[in-house]
Amino acid sequence: MTEGAALRARLVDLLREDGGLTRDDLARAFATVPRELFLADGFHAHDTGLLRPGDEGFLAGAYRNDALVTKFDDGRPVSSSSQPSLMALMIEELGVTAGMRVLEIGAGTGYNAALMSALGAEVTSVDVQPDVAARAAAALRATGVTGARVLVGDGYLGWPGGAPYDRVMVTVGVTGISPHWLAQLVPGGQIVAPVAHAGNNPVLRVWTRPAEGRAEPGWPAQAEIWAGGVCGAGFMAAGGPLGAGYPWAHPAPVRTPDWATPAPAEPARWDRALSGLRYHDLWFAVGTWDSRATSAPFDGGTGCVLLDETRAGGAAIRADGAILAAGGQGATYASDAGILVDRWADLGMPGIERWRATLVLAGDPREPVYVPRTWSLAG
Ligand SMILES: C[S@@+](CC[C@H](N)C(=O)[O-])C[C@H]1O[C@@H](n2cnc3c(N)ncnc32)[C@H](O)[C@@H]1O
Repeated sequence: MTEGAALRARLVDLLREDGGLTRDDLARAFATVPRELFLADGFHAHDTGLLRPGDEGFLAGAYRNDALVTKFDDGRPVSSSSQPSLMALMIEELGVTAGMRVLEIGAGTGYNAALMSALGAEVTSVDVQPDVAARAAAALRATGVTGARVLVGDGYLGWPGGAPYDRVMVTVGVTGISPHWLAQLVPGGQIVAPVAHAGNNPVLRVWTRPAEGRAEPGWPAQAEIWAGGVCGAGFMAAGGPLGAGYPWAHPAPVRTPDWATPAPAEPARWDRALSGLRYHDLWFAVGTWDSRATSAPFDGGTGCVLLDETRAGGAAIRADGAILAAGGQGATYASDAGILVDRWADLGMPGIERWRATLVLAGDPREPVYVPRTWSLAG
């Protein structure tokens, strides 16, 4: 077995253990598609500098279960290969199978398109950056993939030339769902997308009533589209209409390392800190209840905060349920944060998959997107 094949086999084991990978055909896709060939110009992982083909650690790094950044602009990551466990989960959630036509928004390296193509899907993948799209197309050619094509364009418009699609897979953080994707979807077609929520981009699944049941052909009426949580996630943000702001959006994440110097305000609620996944469940719930919730750095990491208007204070929620306060209004914010954490605990700590939202049109009226408006717990 080659070193690449051994690393792929190990990645498959890891993704199975992680729980996101259950399908055998998808396991075979991960075991055969060579991720390193989609990283031909090198990548940065969160703890490495640039690793190029031939560098020590390149091949092993290419098979880490991590997002690998392939392009920076002004020090900001603008393209990457997403985390494999997240791709597995999104592909399974969408139920991509042989013969389906899939529209992917955000081609990036082309690796995810290659995985879906290996399942027998016919993939149309769109990326807004011409150099990124060209590199992805070259990688698909180099690996002999014929069932996926990469096109340059703003994903907001979808790609009418390939419609209708059975599935839409969005691999870039968006503030809402483009009406064009809905118009290009077959009746009963499905979408998964990482939609901005409280400073993160959790993956949501979108449902619409079949076209024949709609008030009008094309764009569905607002009451006919809704979304549900799939899993917590972080994605780089899309530009253009897909990144539009709207009045009830949460504040943008705080990126500066010195957000505030928070001080303990309420003690730990639980002996053991929540796992990463459960903390994201709490974070998601807090975001559904409070429009001040976002992401900020504290305690050497990043977590959920209620941010005050100065963006330099508020309250931070720790994974053990303790609350930290910062800034002039810290005490009030900490009390509000504590109430939200208790509310989540009193409800039995619901997971992200329990939440449903109605979607409404927002953003630029000439190029609107459907964004979550009112969240409620299902079941
Ligand atoms: C996380 S990467 C996608 C990962 C990719 N699916 C893979 O397998 O490597 C996100 C990509 O979305 C692209 N993007 C950002 N805004 C976009 C937009 N409005 N339309 C289409 N692509 C966009 C970026 O250029 C970037 O390459």
